[in-house]
Amino acid sequence: MTSYKIAVIGGTGPQGKGLAYRFARAGHTVVLGSRSAERAEQAATEILRRAGDTAPVSGVDNATAAESADVVLLAVPYDGHAALVESLRPRLAGKTLVSCVNPLGFDRRGPYGLDVPDGSAAEEAQRIVPEARLVGAFHHLSAPSLWNQAGLLDHEDVLVCGDDTEAKAVVVELARAVTGRPGVDAGALRLARQLEPLTAVLISVNKRYKVRSGIRVAGLGPKE
Ligand SMILES: NC(=O)c1ccc[n+]([C@@H]2O[C@H](COP(=O)([O-])OP(=O)(O)OC[C@H]3O[C@@H](n4cnc5c(N)ncnc54)[C@H](OP(=O)(O)O)[C@@H]3O)[C@@H](O)[C@H]2O)c1
Repeated sequence: MTSYKIAVIGGTGPQGKGLAYRFARAGHTVVLGSRSAERAEQAATEILRRAGDTAPVSGVDNATAAESADVVLLAVPYDGHAALVESLRPRLAGKTLVSCVNPLGFDRRGPYGLDVPDGSAAEEAQRIVPEARLVGAFHHLSAPSLWNQAGLLDHEDVLVCGDDTEAKAVVVELARAVTGRPGVDAGALRLARQLEPLTAVLISVNKRYKVRSGIRVAGLGPKE
């Protein structure tokens, strides 16, 4: 398995920390990013405690993290996303930039997908940094499962979308760290318009049935 150096922007939040933990456990080198290097260091310590002290995890500010890695994961809220991506633009040229950002709203009737001017958060990031190789993935994994479940989340699939074939192939492989299988190539980046708001459906199901639901694609056959 190829081992990558992965920067997790917003790595102090539950989703970034959960994915970082899975990547570190699978042998990837992880650099957590935050607006505060101190918070990133604290989150790195939490992951080290959980993954084992020898796991290759460190914490720095977002810009240093993005600069240091070839694969950069955006794990920040949609609110503030555009400004953050803009601020990191000089560090992201040529990099595989993965977005798990779900632009969601919540009201009395529950969760729903927000109307995003660019179509999706992933396409917004691509517009802001045309030099980056955008990939959408990891939208449907729940942070508590990533952090708490002992084994692989092998009952779930990771759907991956993107227009850059090589970058998408990297992320399809990275999905192994979470599910034990390659991710599912779902198609072009514009399909993030469908993948991101689908999370609202999962959250709604979770509330209704008191579960942590996920996505598994039927009909692919025994891939591995
Ligand atoms: N939570 C889940 O189960 C889940 C599942 C699938 C996808 N996602 C998606 O993953 C992303 C992260 O989710 P989360 O629950 O981890 O989010 P979160 O806790 O709200 O935010 C993650 C981190 O982003 C940073 N941040 C917050 N506001 C920011 C701003 N305006 N500008 C720059 N950085 C900011 C914070 O880090 P610092 O203060 O340390 O900078 C925070 O710890 C979201 O887009 C969410 O839709 C979440």
